Amino acid sequence: MTSPTYPLNVDQPYPRNQWWVAAYSAEVERDLLARDILGERVLLYRTEGGEAVALSGICPHRAFPLEKGRLVGDHVQCGYHGFTYGADGGCVLVPSQSGVPQKSSLRCYPVVERGDLVWIWTGRADLADPALLPDLGAVGLGRPDWACEQHPVCEVAARYTLLIENLLDLSHVTFIHATTIPGGEKVAQIPVAVIETDHSLTVQRKGENLPLNPLLKMQFPEQDGPVHQHFDAEYLGPAMIRTGGAVHDAASGQLLGINNFLHMITPAGPTSLRYFVITTRSFGLENPALGQINLGMGTRIQPEDSAAIEAIEQVFQSGVTLPMEISARVDNGALKVRRRLEAQIRSEQSA
Ligand code: FES
Ligand SMILES: [Fe+2]
Repeated sequence: MTSPTYPLNVDQPYPRNQWWVAAYSAEVERDLLARDILGERVLLYRTEGGEAVALSGICPHRAFPLEKGRLVGDHVQCGYHGFTYGADGGCVLVPSQSGVPQKSSLRCYPVVERGDLVWIWTGRADLADPALLPDLGAVGLGRPDWACEQHPVCEVAARYTLLIENLLDLSHVTFIHATTIPGGEKVAQIPVAVIETDHSLTVQRKGENLPLNPLLKMQFPEQDGPVHQHFDAEYLGPAMIRTGGAVHDAASGQLLGINNFLHMITPAGPTSLRYFVITTRSFGLENPALGQINLGMGTRIQPEDSAAIEAIEQVFQSGVTLPMEISARVDNGALKVRRRLEAQIRSEQSA
């Protein structure tokens, strides 16, 4: 049987001292939303003052799912026997008695909203530091001079590490997305470089002297000649990977623009994940058709990736014996990310 943490060689599947995306900001409103995150049921809502709140989502009285209760002001009233909890998780009312039982509070998770995303900290609350978020402005989020599109959230029946590895090896574009990503048929042939910093690891592919395909022509209507185009994959931690990148005029080297796909990956449980995609672009803000194209591409690309990693997850779940894993040079970046992720998980266990 394949280990539940495969391909990581660790005892726990995910790091908990980590910001993960719980929801798009627009999903968190004045009603109760339940999400499974790292194997925990989390209840999300917004206070009357507009603050996003994340509490444990199961009533500690008799395990009723709290999203089936209701909001009373900023309080959550359980729909079963009416135990009521404040936005800090504290139990404020037990209808059948005066006073509340000890230890009857809900867990309250640290939350920050950045880049129109609700980020949740799933580990020790005293370590929750917004400075540990990825640099969102650097990838085009929350910037008035960039356009961005939020793609529909999707759920994938696969362990989150399979999606990380999918994104870090974009040679799959040539095979899985050959007809959905213009120019994708050449990606597997582009040489790879791995660039590491403390906070990121980029598997860089720079396609050189590429002819203008119809998509590039729409994105850069002034452009005549060939371009250099990046098909990078930048690991910004387990919760976020950026793919795509800059396009330059091949003749002058001048930057034409940057088109990113941002992939936010949140484990729902050991073998399931929630997948958020946002496209950001530094050019063509006046042309909403470019946003529609990005959304349309996402609609076709996401199911192709989901189907691939769900097929692998099914192999793992089937219990068949796996062949000895082999890796190619192209996997160097993904293998380094495995080591980073293992180190992150182990550091929590030894702390
Ligand atoms: S289960 Fe919630 S009040 Fe009883
Ligand atoms: Fe893909």
